[in-house]
Amino acid sequence: MSKTIIQVDQVKRTYEVKKGSWKKEKKFVEAVKGISFDVKDGEIFGLLGPNGAGKTTMIKMLTTMLIPTDGTIEVLGFNPVHQHKELRPHINFILGGERNLYWRLSAYDNLAYFADLYKIPRSTQKERIPQLLKLVELEEAADRRVETFSKGMKQRLQIARGLLNNPKILFLDEPSIGLDPVSARKLRDILRDLNQQGTTIVLTTHYMYEADELCDRIAFINHGELIAIDTPQNLKQRTNHLSVIECKLSNSTKQEITRLLEGANIFDSEIHEEQNVLKVRIPAEEPQKVVSLLYNLPYLEVQDLSITKPSLEDAYVSMVGGV
Ligand SMILES: Nc1ncnc2c1ncn2[C@@H]1O[C@H](COP(=O)(O)OP(=O)(O)O)[C@@H](O)[C@H]1O
Ligand SMILES: [Mg+2]
Repeated sequence: MSKTIIQVDQVKRTYEVKKGSWKKEKKFVEAVKGISFDVKDGEIFGLLGPNGAGKTTMIKMLTTMLIPTDGTIEVLGFNPVHQHKELRPHINFILGGERNLYWRLSAYDNLAYFADLYKIPRSTQKERIPQLLKLVELEEAADRRVETFSKGMKQRLQIARGLLNNPKILFLDEPSIGLDPVSARKLRDILRDLNQQGTTIVLTTHYMYEADELCDRIAFINHGELIAIDTPQNLKQRTNHLSVIECKLSNSTKQEITRLLEGANIFDSEIHEEQNVLKVRIPAEEPQKVVSLLYNLPYLEVQDLSITKPSLEDAYVSMVGGV
């Protein structure tokens, strides 16, 4: 068992918002409402939840940028509030898009500029910058100005910047937001490589697929509360229906299929009618029984039938409720 390198205990964060331009009426928003979890050395750990769930607030507290209202946090044995100077050299973070780059400088010069800020000796820079450009697949573009880069290239350069100080833990807030599918996949490959080389990764996302693909463990959060925390595999298994049948049916009606399924104690099927074809999604504990029920209706035509496992989204919806 790997050792714990992040420990979050009963953490709360409240924001004070002033309402009214001259009345200065105070209002409080509880963004994080007493969350506890830990992250182990070598994990890819995901905070997953809808907009406003409290993910960014949590990441900011972990990376010394925001002070918790209550509770305690320990990262690599340091308290981010009182020991931020000691902690900062060991971590790095990429929050919010493209802001941290100088568009008129080349990729190489951007990294050199930030390396100087991190006080990395020039001799080390000469080795590390080309290595990082290689890792994020930007070797060819090293001397191009960043303003000519695609969104995916900029995001990869951000990752290289985040790795300049060789951090033990890299924090990423919504790393793939706005990326096209190919760039998002490339980004996941890079993060996986990096993790295999020993970097612990903590990321937030609201993309189920990304979390499922990438994370060793996931914390579901919603309205500032922790709903569940486990491996993607276990989260999916917690859904009580173990399989999902998907098929297309013709020569029948929505009412008839609904009645048939209700007779088999299935009440949460989804049926959409499209040009006399019913597209059906049926969660079932014993899928074979349901399949034989369908095939036993003599006039019913069954097409494209497949039986799959519940997705992470099925698990999320069943635990969090309607998103
Ligand atoms: N600086 C702030 N001032 C006031 N309220 C904020 C501030 N930042 C976030 N919030 C509120 O806190 C809640 C959680 O926000 P956030 O952590 O950004 O969620 P997420 O990253 O999951 O979308 C939201 O209701 C948001 O409106
Ligand atoms: Mg956010």
